[in-house]
Amino acid sequence: MTEKDFIPGVYPQKVEKGQITYSSPSNIALVKYWGKKENQIPANPSVSFTLEACATTTTVTFYELGSAGSHFSFDLFFEGRPNEDFKPKIQTFFKRITVYLPFLKSYHLKIETANSFPHSSGIASSASGMSALALCLLEIERELNPEMTQEYFTRKASFLARLGSGSACRSIEGDLVQWGAHKETEGSSDLFGIKYPYKVHNVFNSYHDTILLVDKGKKQVSSTIGHGLMHDHPFAAQRFQQAHNNLSKLRSVFEKGDLDTFIEIVESEALTLHAMMMTSQPSFVLMKPNTLEVIQKIRDFREKSGTHVCFTLDAGANVHVLYPENEKEKVYAFVKNELLVYCENQQHICDRIGYGAKKLG
Ligand code: PMV
Repeated sequence: MTEKDFIPGVYPQKVEKGQITYSSPSNIALVKYWGKKENQIPANPSVSFTLEACATTTTVTFYELGSAGSHFSFDLFFEGRPNEDFKPKIQTFFKRITVYLPFLKSYHLKIETANSFPHSSGIASSASGMSALALCLLEIERELNPEMTQEYFTRKASFLARLGSGSACRSIEGDLVQWGAHKETEGSSDLFGIKYPYKVHNVFNSYHDTILLVDKGKKQVSSTIGHGLMHDHPFAAQRFQQAHNNLSKLRSVFEKGDLDTFIEIVESEALTLHAMMMTSQPSFVLMKPNTLEVIQKIRDFREKSGTHVCFTLDAGANVHVLYPENEKEKVYAFVKNELLVYCENQQHICDRIGYGAKKLG
């Protein structure tokens, strides 16, 4: 598919007004997306676990304007209150997607959005937020064109979400989602995420992700700046190749449930992401002393207990602790007894692998 396939023809239906609600989850990358080309095209392919508990719920209430305006007409409410801060981001998103959703300027939109996790938790809400909004907007298009197939809907929702925030395109479906062209993955595309198309061992169906809120501060480096750092990065080419290789290796890991190799790849990806930030110009150290304490404790405990607990990181100090369902008692006891002291006010979120966005109304 190309970008052109997402430009609609004349809509067969008219819709005056309506209301749509979606809840869309966050996701955690196992192979990281870090570096992009123009138009939100990723510099390398990535794969993620869709989450369940960390989600954004968005309601879009819309009515048709008398005549199509020259600008986007919308109000934004975040957690029940009018919010001006997020408006420029939405405005940019609308500008990017208006060619694919040409009805946008013909409606006034009231967007009401809320996260299941605390806003100042250091957990990025762009993936869940942008995917929830993309889904609501595309649902309006589906009302204008009820013949749209579910397959096309899912692809286009991911395509649109990507234009809001790259990683958001991996939040439409579950449970494992790959985004970015990879020659060994059939159907993979730079334009949208796809459900991982090969066999996945049962052990991954119910994986846990306990998110440790080590540092709830504001992000030190925005995604846009962060991705930009890969442009003249001395290790960029090797890094992008490594992501391709890791995806190739993961195929048999997912198939066989090979947790030892899974751990090697996932931890290496997390540390490489941070290594890229530490070796770029300017450089950023986003881990905190407590992040390193937690990493060391996880490795020690894994060795001692024979469990398969491992960690991954986002572009921040918080730690995602990953472990299989059949080890949850042992690992969660360890998290409670030994890791929560490194979190701000012991805060953590018990999440697990999820199955994608849901239409609520
Ligand atoms: O979606 P963005 O532009 O905020 O980038 C997300 C980048 C990472 O979270 C660090 C990695 C990833 O693949 O999700």
